[in-house]
Amino acid sequence: MHKNFIAGAWVEGVTVGLNLNPSDTNDVIGEYARADAAQAEQAINAAFEGQKRWGQSTAEQRSDALDRIGTEILDRRDELGLLLSREEGKTLPEGVGEVVRAGRVFKFFAGEALRLGGEKLPSIRAGVDVEVTREPEGVVGIITPWNFPIAIPAWKIAPALAFGNAVVFKPADLVPGSAWALSEIIVRAGQLPEGAFNLVMGPGSKVGQTLATSRKVRAITFTGSVQTGRAIGITCMERGAKVQLEMGGKNPLVILNDADLEQAVLVAINGSFFSTGQRCTGSSRLIVEDGIHDAFVAAMAQRMASLKVDHALKAGTDIGPVASQDQLDQDLHYIELGTKEGGRLFAGGELLVRETPGFYLSPALITETQNHMRINQEEVFGPVASVIRAKDYEEAVSMANDTDFGLSSGICTTSLKHATDFKRRSAAGMVMVNVPTAGVDYHAPFGGRKASSHGSREQGTYAREFYTAVKTAYTLA
Ligand code: UN1
Repeated sequence: MHKNFIAGAWVEGVTVGLNLNPSDTNDVIGEYARADAAQAEQAINAAFEGQKRWGQSTAEQRSDALDRIGTEILDRRDELGLLLSREEGKTLPEGVGEVVRAGRVFKFFAGEALRLGGEKLPSIRAGVDVEVTREPEGVVGIITPWNFPIAIPAWKIAPALAFGNAVVFKPADLVPGSAWALSEIIVRAGQLPEGAFNLVMGPGSKVGQTLATSRKVRAITFTGSVQTGRAIGITCMERGAKVQLEMGGKNPLVILNDADLEQAVLVAINGSFFSTGQRCTGSSRLIVEDGIHDAFVAAMAQRMASLKVDHALKAGTDIGPVASQDQLDQDLHYIELGTKEGGRLFAGGELLVRETPGFYLSPALITETQNHMRINQEEVFGPVASVIRAKDYEEAVSMANDTDFGLSSGICTTSLKHATDFKRRSAAGMVMVNVPTAGVDYHAPFGGRKASSHGSREQGTYAREFYTAVKTAYTLA
């Protein structure tokens, strides 16, 4: 039984949840505590007190704590990667890769803790000093999704702690295993003061809601659906709390006539289908210029036929199962919708039977679609990509930007002119040239525009914007 961690102690929840393996639904990974609103409240109160202590620690103490946490995560990459792949369904190399990323994030913010500088400005008044410094926000509520069960918690928890905040961490219901393992490392290797870090597993309607509404939670960072993110955003706005939201994407990948065809296919396969397409940065709209369209679609289908969809832990698997029955239903619904809207299911999109009972779906390519169709405007969040034919570069750019979302975008081209122009004109937070729209570096700013994101950027040096409060002090000496 995996417990919650509240006020420096492991405590039972009010109910218990089961963590199932999507590659084999007979495999129960473990039992995990589920808290109610009252327990979330206890964690918030503990964090409020704990922050006073953690906020007094030195930058070096915080740096050392993060460094120890990062070291243990990296040392245990194989074991933690296996747990991650077992509970989420991404392949074992992807799972181990994500654990490494989480470890590196802690190492990066161990350095950042020491680098938090300020500014001194000349005043417009004689004899007055103006100083700009950064302080912890206080208690930060961290709400994370199921698709990156360790990396997203890491890139929110590490900067929160680095800059002296206390944390109440609510991981996704579907994948509590990696979150629990990460929390156990933070608590033990971090040696943090009581209350500085709290893990509260439980339903969003109770735990998430309590975090969003509590006066003691000064800032909420959330990654997940647009619907939930907006509701949290409104609640935080109403009570004057800081909020950072990372939500959906409908990321375009433009393929121009002058692209290297083989490279473009690899970029599209990776961006659309790896991690079972369950990434908010995934390429779901493939916008292909007329002259390369037919060759690209044929090469995609050929490549897709060679991809192995199977148990996430099996050697040689390219694509693991979809994470849950709900998600699978949503994927199938959108594949059907795409064809009803006039698209053609060119390849894949079939339920597969494997040795173990799991949510297996072959990657789907839907061709002959138009950008205005729902399949091209709503996030599917699965191994489903649609193809839109563009008559030329100009039409491709305008369709790429014609979406409510703006997280990531990509282009495959060998033309410097088009690559440069696309970087300038793409209405997305991240633009990729000849690399997949998904799979970002851990030390560079991450985030989007329009309905994809709200608030300041995550990761890299930009993360400090959210996790610190700026203070301007005037002194007449
Ligand atoms: C990546 O593509 O490397 O939930 C990261 C998501 C994003 C993270 C994507 N917030 O898919």
